[in-house]
Amino acid sequence: MKRLIVVSNRLPYQVQESEGKVTLRQSDGGLVTALKSFFEEEARKGGTIEKRWVGAADFPEKRWKKFKAQENAEQTFEIDPIFIEKKTYSKFYNGFCNATLWPLFHYFPSYVEYDEETFQAYEAVNHAFADMLLSFLKPGDTLWIHDYQLLLLPGMIRQKLPDISIGFFLHIPFPSYEIFRMLHRTWKEKIIRGMLGADLLGFHTHEYVQHFLKTVRMVAGYDHQFRSIIVDNRIIKADLFPLGIDYAKFHDAANVPAVIEQRETIRKNFQDKKIIFSVDRLDYTKGVTHRLLGFEKFLEAYPDWKERVVFVLVVVPSRQIISKYNERLKLIEEQVGSINGKHSTLSWQPIIYRYSNLAFDELCALYEAADAALITPLRDGMNLVAKEYAASRAQEDGVLILSELAGAANEMGEAILVNPVDTADMANAISTALTMPVQEQRHNMKLLQKRLKDYTVIHWVNDFLKQLEEVRSQQSEQETK
Ligand code: G6P
Repeated sequence: MKRLIVVSNRLPYQVQESEGKVTLRQSDGGLVTALKSFFEEEARKGGTIEKRWVGAADFPEKRWKKFKAQENAEQTFEIDPIFIEKKTYSKFYNGFCNATLWPLFHYFPSYVEYDEETFQAYEAVNHAFADMLLSFLKPGDTLWIHDYQLLLLPGMIRQKLPDISIGFFLHIPFPSYEIFRMLHRTWKEKIIRGMLGADLLGFHTHEYVQHFLKTVRMVAGYDHQFRSIIVDNRIIKADLFPLGIDYAKFHDAANVPAVIEQRETIRKNFQDKKIIFSVDRLDYTKGVTHRLLGFEKFLEAYPDWKERVVFVLVVVPSRQIISKYNERLKLIEEQVGSINGKHSTLSWQPIIYRYSNLAFDELCALYEAADAALITPLRDGMNLVAKEYAASRAQEDGVLILSELAGAANEMGEAILVNPVDTADMANAISTALTMPVQEQRHNMKLLQKRLKDYTVIHWVNDFLKQLEEVRSQQSEQETK
């Protein structure tokens, strides 16, 4: 591989301006951290891969021009921001991406909005990405396209450059055909055609791969053999690549002074109380309102725990312009108020609620201070919070309570798995977690950590790119036959 171009809706840097100087700040995202480590490793082995990252700009074009005109230090990635007209971008992002595809792929069909205009915006933005890429792509380049915002893009590129190498990874669930088929006929055909432009399609779990293969057969009529499909004489492959995390980054955080200090403060504030922790982006898929019902049920079914436990609930702002998100925020806040109002005493409040972003140090301090993590999405492609909590447990104790409907549940059998809508099940799981002997906690946590350490996000990047190269060589063998 000579040149890798990563493509995602969001860019991995924030572009900030202060005192007349424009600077780039790398975001904390798992993908960019992993790719950076992957390239550092390649460089150590003497490899010289040129890398670029293409994404939608969330800053003004003027600022970008200023940045380009300055003297700048070298970055890991050359970035190519795409400037999209505001209204079109909003119909794309708040419309088709997050009010149509997102709820449908997470099994919330009643939340899905059907609007031809937002689909047109989705096509227009995918086209804008294709135009930017086609302006500089060369034969021999490798493209790695990410997520549901760009399902049409692989096909658009393939049409113009039939021989380019394209990988695609879906970070959210791929739903069963019975759900997918609820999209308008033209949309679903274009989406599947778009995805089939890739050489390799990656998903988090075996089920998502199976759903995709069946959908391809039903929508486009292509059959598969094991996980390979022949499309217009070209072999393409769909496979599972469960996303991992940067294990060391979370595990080693326990020794960072700022983390230690905050962890100790938290522990002191909640002396002689057990701490249950959860953190999610604001999203109805995360099951926060059901989780609150489960916690309340626990207080009622196990009243001995009153004044001896706190639930620290952090919700991170996200997509609030979309009505279903804003409604959810109101519901969460009402419910927190009602549970606290009903169960608090003069010296104790059962839920400590925050609606804000969390800095990395503070997040790790909370992971470490918490006796249990309660992570109960109604549906989640993977869920990395569960993995981060387990990795952060430097003392190998702590209990993870995890929804069986998160992709991560497939790999985390040592967690207490719960049905996120069964409040009695959740209440019992909380009680089991808080009374679990330390020996048992350690036994489970060690197994969870081993798996997370053995398959980190760097392995994930390696595996995906290696398999993409394999598919490409299979294609050339097929052509020479
Ligand atoms: C999920 C999606 C990502 C997305 C992230 C944050 O993890 O799979 O593609 O970037 O949520 O959502 P946002 O809409 O803020 O990018």
